Amino acid sequence: MCGIVGYIGPKQAAPLILEALEKLEYRGYDSSGIAIADGNKLGVVKAKGRLSVLEEMTDCGRALPGCLGIGHTRWATHGEPNDVNAHPHLSQHGEVALVHNGIVENYIELRDFLTEQGYSFMSETDTEIAANLVEHLYRSNREDGPEAAIREALSLISGAFALGIIFADHPDTLYAVRKDSPLIVGVGKGENFIASDVPAILKHTRQVIRLDEYDMAVLTAGSVKIYNRYGEELHKNIEHIQWDADAAEKGGYPHFMLKEIMEQPDVIRSTVRPRVRDGRIDLGLSHISPDDIMACDRIFIVACGSASYVGQVAKHYIERYTRIPVTVELASEFRYSNPIVTDRTIAIVISQSGETIDTLFALREAKSRGAHVLSIVNVVGSTIANESEDVIYTWAGPEIAVATTKAYSAQLSVCYLLALYMGHCRHMVSDSELKDFLNAIEELPGLMRSLLEKSDYIKYLASLHFSCRNIYFIGRNIDHALALEGSLKLKEISYIFSEAYPAGELKHGTISLIEPGSLVVALCTYSPLTEKMISNMREVKARGAVVLALATEGTPGVEETADQVMWIPKTDPFVLPSLAILPLQLFAYYVALLKGCDIDKPRNLAKSVTVE
Ligand code: AGP
Repeated sequence: MCGIVGYIGPKQAAPLILEALEKLEYRGYDSSGIAIADGNKLGVVKAKGRLSVLEEMTDCGRALPGCLGIGHTRWATHGEPNDVNAHPHLSQHGEVALVHNGIVENYIELRDFLTEQGYSFMSETDTEIAANLVEHLYRSNREDGPEAAIREALSLISGAFALGIIFADHPDTLYAVRKDSPLIVGVGKGENFIASDVPAILKHTRQVIRLDEYDMAVLTAGSVKIYNRYGEELHKNIEHIQWDADAAEKGGYPHFMLKEIMEQPDVIRSTVRPRVRDGRIDLGLSHISPDDIMACDRIFIVACGSASYVGQVAKHYIERYTRIPVTVELASEFRYSNPIVTDRTIAIVISQSGETIDTLFALREAKSRGAHVLSIVNVVGSTIANESEDVIYTWAGPEIAVATTKAYSAQLSVCYLLALYMGHCRHMVSDSELKDFLNAIEELPGLMRSLLEKSDYIKYLASLHFSCRNIYFIGRNIDHALALEGSLKLKEISYIFSEAYPAGELKHGTISLIEPGSLVVALCTYSPLTEKMISNMREVKARGAVVLALATEGTPGVEETADQVMWIPKTDPFVLPSLAILPLQLFAYYVALLKGCDIDKPRNLAKSVTVE
């Protein structure tokens, strides 16, 4: 996901923009650049690689005079990561500089049109097309001004975009627009900002306006104006950001990921507590009614990556307590699967960022077919949240590490509440059962904290296995759903090949990969199937595998069968997944640490994938 920053005010823009871009590095990128208006000229400096390359080229921005500028960190979609394809893109006649997050889907058609107008292109990017389109429309009707040109360009471009734009002959104005990709305005004192996300501007202002679809911001040093797609001025509310700067810092931990793993008990508490009162659950659903839940005859859970693995766990809970059939669909597949959806379908959309484009488009697909859409999202005011009928926020705070941990756990806790709430609406969960389950959830943060305090043993286990070339995670029922997440955590930050597999399915093919020394992580916390899991452990050991089991204390047969065991405390089975995931997160973290990997910013990955 690309990062955008813009500034207009009395200060030199370049140093401030570069510093702000550093706060967006977590989004993942492969090149960066900056454009500054100086007098009636636009200067652009950009380069492949990390921001430090740009800082060296510009003496940390000090070499670029000017008080209006835009900056960008690029995560490549159209065109490989290199200097030419980096943003900002300067239009052919040097009148417009533009940064972009998203995709211009009809860029080929627009490129052909501009070629006929005499334009030629330096890069392989869709963004350069957008910059030249704005310039062409502006030059064709200069008297109508930049806003008219931008609005017309918006009507011609299809796709997802957040744009920051500056014009050579308007050195006192910063323009920004969004459609599908997030963009905020930071309202300062005598200065104003645009950014893809809050951490970029938190040092300068806590007053934020989140742009909605097709909003256009026109900022000068002393004014902030927001218009809709028809040019009508809008009056948007200003959000006061509560986060401290250190909330997005590491808080003393070596990595954001470890900090966020350790934050999970507090995150569960802050996500659950406000929603439980006097033995009742209040999820704040204002559109999806108990009658809708009674009438519901099918549920889709739609998400990507780890969020979809939360869905795999949630399926067991929702089906158990509501007896409604639940299908978990990867968002990128759901959209093109011609899903069977009616007005009695509820689509549960799960997303940490609330901006994952696959998930957003799947949401729109479900909505267009008449489903009720309920989303579980971590970022307030994000696109997925705004487009859902109802949204349940996971109050996990900013999750900076690319590999999700606390948001995963927060989503899981919301799914517990949702399953119980829906089961209670359908008279399948009694008041006393509800009370018992809520007590178990209430005790969860304390159990998580005591388990996290024993992380040294997991660190020791990681030291035994960090040089493995491939690691298999096996489990049954809910343990298989957890195995999916454990495997993803490991491979995405340690780059070790890993696969999660239903333990009962191994013998139908994949077991041929097991050879002497293969590491198999066997999850057997789901007690009804312990015996089956013991025999699966024996099955792989017979082929030379080393078995690292994950089990609740006192589970019979595990210690005798496995080579090593990650124990979790005996507890109410209802909350077991929230405990079982902790050793898997820590194992992945310590393996990656021992391998010297870039834990918070793994290669090839972005925190939020806003391209299809
Ligand atoms: C998880 O560690 C990954 N970073 C990735 O799978 C992520 O969960 C997925 O891209 C979905 O992101 P979202 O929750 O922001 O929609």
